[in-house]
Amino acid sequence: MSSHLEGATASNPRFAPPMDFAAQAVAGREIQEQASADRLAFWEKQSRDLLHWDTPFTRVLDWSTPPFARWFDDGELNVAYNCLDRHVEAGNGDRIALHFEGEPGDSRSLTYAELTSEVKRVANVLEGLGVGPGDRVAIYLPMIPEAIASLLAVARLGAIHSVVFGGFSADSLRARIDDAGAKVVITADGGYRKGRASALKPAVDQALADRGNGEQGTVEHVLVVRRTGQEVEWNAGRDVWWHDVVPAEPATHEARAFPAENPLFILYTSGTTGKPKGILHTSGGYLTQAAFTHKNVFDLRPENDVYWCSADIGWITGHSYVVYGPLANGATQVIYEGTPDHPEPGRWWDVVEKYGVTIFYTAPTAVRSFMKQGRSIPQSRDLSSLRLLGSVGEPINPEAWKWFRDVIGAGVTPIVDTWWQTETGAIMISALPGITDLKPGSAQVPIPGISVAVVDETGEPVARGDGGLLVATEPWPSMLRGIWGDPERFVETYWKMFADRGYYFAGDGARLDEDGDVWLLGRVDDVMNVSGHRLSTAEIESALVAHPATAEAAVVGANDETTGQAVVAFVILKESYLKENTAEGLAGELRGWVGEQIGPIARPRDVYIVGELPKTRSGKIMRRLLRDVAEGREVGDTQTLADTSVMSVITAQVR
Ligand code: WT7
Repeated sequence: MSSHLEGATASNPRFAPPMDFAAQAVAGREIQEQASADRLAFWEKQSRDLLHWDTPFTRVLDWSTPPFARWFDDGELNVAYNCLDRHVEAGNGDRIALHFEGEPGDSRSLTYAELTSEVKRVANVLEGLGVGPGDRVAIYLPMIPEAIASLLAVARLGAIHSVVFGGFSADSLRARIDDAGAKVVITADGGYRKGRASALKPAVDQALADRGNGEQGTVEHVLVVRRTGQEVEWNAGRDVWWHDVVPAEPATHEARAFPAENPLFILYTSGTTGKPKGILHTSGGYLTQAAFTHKNVFDLRPENDVYWCSADIGWITGHSYVVYGPLANGATQVIYEGTPDHPEPGRWWDVVEKYGVTIFYTAPTAVRSFMKQGRSIPQSRDLSSLRLLGSVGEPINPEAWKWFRDVIGAGVTPIVDTWWQTETGAIMISALPGITDLKPGSAQVPIPGISVAVVDETGEPVARGDGGLLVATEPWPSMLRGIWGDPERFVETYWKMFADRGYYFAGDGARLDEDGDVWLLGRVDDVMNVSGHRLSTAEIESALVAHPATAEAAVVGANDETTGQAVVAFVILKESYLKENTAEGLAGELRGWVGEQIGPIARPRDVYIVGELPKTRSGKIMRRLLRDVAEGREVGDTQTLADTSVMSVITAQVR
């Protein structure tokens, strides 16, 4: 049972690990002690224990030319062999690797032996299409087993994948294909979303279409999975059906060993300015930290657990915690193709019940949308298999944290709030569920072997309780190795600010509390300065969401003549609240509420009640657009919004 601890207060509760959980936890205090005694020896041991090295490394870290790190660099391994063949060789070939649940209700389970065979066939096909070590392969697929097999087949060849989220447009896809110089694209006719077959192949055709400027694209072949059966245009000679070529290949393929620093993938992420950055990750260090964190943060017992991470492979979470971490650890996992609410709002909970999911990793935005629908939906399913919950992507407000634990986790499951980034490759800050007393809203402690600090602009640590900049003070195994094709931008973006100290600047604001736990305050560009006081958008949002009327809230700092910046809030109300009440007078009430919760300085200048918030396809609120509305400007570029019509609706509701 959970317990409140001494020193905890009603507004700052802590939850000790359940006793039976702590007694059997994978990660005990000894790993913290080992890591703090000798960080490099710790990572050396983790890497040797968790991975198979064809050529064992003798060097752990080469940091002689910072910020270009080399980890385990004279070792050799094959990433796909580590995720597949070795589990089969160890006698676990019959263990389920993937339980696939399609949105229309079709399902398929693949054992490690089956997935290994499939990946070998796909690797043979790709070789036949001319893919070799170092070549780039773009992957534009729905969440189907073929997607996971594709990433692993590319990795097996020592080639580099660049996954583009299936929700991105043809233009975005083209920009990414061009930047990486991809030789092959793997796609599908379409995938299922919201009950419909949503086409993918036309976007690929458009992305590869003649540019009319005589420029020759780099793509030679497109490998196409048939998922929905919808009509596709066919470019003979270029396009190849997966079902024509993959089953025809033998399920034999020798996994060559590649150097630890062989590039594994590029993944594009948006920066503060226009052009997306191709974040580059390599093999041995990345796989070490992905496997280590997946095992220890999620308390994984591969023989018993059924793990589910709801992220799409189009994002880093899907790379590290659907593909590489879980498979390196020999886990059994669920992958789900579609939207959470199709055919009805309880779909995710049906999936948990059907497969007996024990570990569930998702995003706060999803938790809040379930809150909005009400607890009766999950409560009508059997969720008793769940024993650990995880959160990632943004700070989880204590209100959502508590709902997640109470309603989904039966009031007892630990929740690990994991802070990391596309750039960090793997989890950096998180509770370890068997030993950390949990604090809702705080990501808490750097994982063993990771060193972070909260510093001021000169790199000096700030006092506990004060806001500052989050930095990594030492290199880590899964750190990005660069921005594809742009080493200067890599240095400029992440390392220049604290060049004299060699700190990596994460772009996030944070503070340490009296116990030294880390509280993320949002991206630095989202931290407001009101009358010289530092305020967090996340903190005010959390306060707003704690009000019984509020389902979701976004706060921006708008320019203000007197106070520098002023707090402007956009709020979505709960349907259940509106059934009993009207929204009249509520804006004023919410202003006062925030003033009460945090202090008068945090009281929003304006509270706008709106029907929707502008979100990217990965669920991040685009505050930049809300700032435009708050400052009465014309709304800027809405291209990366999941639904581009949202902004005109919001503008109309505000004016
Ligand atoms: C940014 C990175 C890491 C995979 C998903 C997002 C924010 C991420 C947390 C968390 C507070 C978080 C940060 C970070 N973020 N996790 N647990 N608490 N903030 O990857 O798209 O590269 O975004 O997401 O602001 O910098 P990403």
